[in-house]
Amino acid sequence: MTSSYPNLRLRRTRAAAWSRALHRETMLTPADLIWPVFVTEGKGVEEPIATLPGVSRWSVDGIAARAKEAVELGIPCIALFPNTPADKRNEDGAEALNPDNLMCRAIRAIRDACGSDIGILTDVALDPYTSHGQDGLVDDGGYVLNDDTVGVLVDQALNQAEAGADIIAPSDMMDGRVHVIRMALEMNGHPNVQIMSYAAKYASAFYGPFRDAVGSRGLLKGDKKTYQMDPGNALEALREVELDLNEGADSVMVKPGLAYLDIVRRVRERFDVPVFAYQVSGEYAMIEAAAAAGAGDRDALVLETLMAFKRAGCSGVLTYHAAHAARLLNG
Ligand code: PBG
Repeated sequence: MTSSYPNLRLRRTRAAAWSRALHRETMLTPADLIWPVFVTEGKGVEEPIATLPGVSRWSVDGIAARAKEAVELGIPCIALFPNTPADKRNEDGAEALNPDNLMCRAIRAIRDACGSDIGILTDVALDPYTSHGQDGLVDDGGYVLNDDTVGVLVDQALNQAEAGADIIAPSDMMDGRVHVIRMALEMNGHPNVQIMSYAAKYASAFYGPFRDAVGSRGLLKGDKKTYQMDPGNALEALREVELDLNEGADSVMVKPGLAYLDIVRRVRERFDVPVFAYQVSGEYAMIEAAAAAGAGDRDALVLETLMAFKRAGCSGVLTYHAAHAARLLNG
């Protein structure tokens, strides 16, 4: 193919909207979105989150309403994160194992409201339940203990599965947890509960607003660099993904999103498995701040960034913009 101008004019197919639609390579639909939502105690409660403008914590009844909204918008899956009351947080995050904790009550309320019309994804990690804000059990020096933590995460995952979760999403980055969770699900009558592992999760500066939302920012001592990945590493991400797949993950996630689309692409090219990305709280906040400052059109920024995830190779995206984006896409 050596033909060139004037035989070849790439602007020809861009000249009209119908033609641009016809030639578009990547499609974004509400079915590509997973909507993360924050659960809090009470009834009829909506608490706005200052660092996540436009996102609120909802009490369980409000979460059920959000799930119904998601079904109406064509969003196939909702992801739950609890804002555990301070008096229920302790050193070992025991509230994560309570069958009546916020997370389990929210799962049951969504199931009552929506039946099997929506998938419920639940996060496995102890940070919303610990008094120190780390994702696992810590020793006297504050180091997060791998194998002891995995022992608790398995029980947390089973607790969520018993309540009705469809997808268990371990976000803790402990070694070996996917295998042990998979075995526990198999042995306890949950063969069809999926595992979407946060396989390549980086120690990122983009998680700040999320930690406000689940009330762990003020509590967190130190950082999470002994378990979350170094932002400079890509080969290691491929090893993480390979391990989690071998351990029984049904799908894998890369997190954060926009700053790590190269990782998404490399994972997608190396492994023929569904890859998801999490457009995290700090990314959401950045788009909102840019729009509020007049630096760009909010709706266009939202759709362009979500499209970028699809183009990079994602099967879907976890995004706080899910409902808004679905409304835009549904016209
Ligand atoms: C908890 C968890 C975090 C996020 C998802 N699950 C925070 C963290 O690892 O500190 C971040 C999501 C976001 O920023 O939107 N393990």
